[in-house]
Amino acid sequence: MKILNLGSMNVDNVYQVDAFLLPGETKLSQGLNLFCGGKGLNQSIAAVRAGSEVWHAGLIGEDGGMLLDKLRENGVNTDLIRQVPGKGGHTVIQVNQQGQNCILLYGGTNRQLTTELIDGIFDAFGGEGAVLLQNEVNLLPYIIETAHRRGLPVFLNAAPMDEQISECDLNLVNWLIVNEVEGRQLVEDCAESEILDALSAKYPKMNILLTLGGSGAMCRKGNDIYSIGICSVDVVDTTAAGDTFSGYFLYGVLNGLELPECLRMATAASALCVGRAGAADSVPWLEEVKRTMEEGTLHIPAVHEKI
Ligand code: RIB
Repeated sequence: MKILNLGSMNVDNVYQVDAFLLPGETKLSQGLNLFCGGKGLNQSIAAVRAGSEVWHAGLIGEDGGMLLDKLRENGVNTDLIRQVPGKGGHTVIQVNQQGQNCILLYGGTNRQLTTELIDGIFDAFGGEGAVLLQNEVNLLPYIIETAHRRGLPVFLNAAPMDEQISECDLNLVNWLIVNEVEGRQLVEDCAESEILDALSAKYPKMNILLTLGGSGAMCRKGNDIYSIGICSVDVVDTTAAGDTFSGYFLYGVLNGLELPECLRMATAASALCVGRAGAADSVPWLEEVKRTMEEGTLHIPAVHEKI
């Protein structure tokens, strides 16, 4: 099933630091790299490297040539991307010695979508396939409603969480992808172990993938609930690990894999991703993921079913 990802594309300016900046502090970084990123672009690359057919749609700015090239090089269909005047989406990312990041995001042209443009994108994509979304573009509520009206299942990664998510009708979402912080923001405050139940109680028809950072991930479809831990690997840079997880999990779901297998594959892919610097470029191809799963080198934890 082909995927329409109407999502962000960012140039990531990644600075190596020994520790994150404190308020009022000025200090020299230890290095700068420019990478292709954006939650949208990263998830398109992850889905295509996993084996999906992906159409990416959205707006890049004057500086977005490298983003278009990156998507094309990876085999993503870019017919629905438009280049417009002005500064495109970009970030300033600090990566510390532990491989953790903090990200300052400038939306740029990612946030200049119009309803006419969105309608045109859906017309061109057609009525078959699935829609993958994140929260780095404007008009997200309209995009979700349009996908639903046209009968296309919606996979929403609600990151980064902000007030736009509260304007979305999440009852129209087939799969919601959230981390524990985002998940908790959507329900009454609760313990980590209760997030999945609380989300299901609020949105009974929605399937959920809940990522839990160092504790792994859980998913729920109807009454089926599974959880998995993480692989123990040396972390270079966690940027795009969540996007890799989403793209691989989505591939598994759309290709009829059992949920435990979707979790295992996504866990292996994101473990490989964190061992490399950068965003889109750090996403592994399916062949490498499968090979490492077969070799057992990542020691992927067992999937547990919640009874
Ligand atoms: O999820 C990682 C991404 O978040 C980065 O590539 C950055 O562009 C931000 O969108």
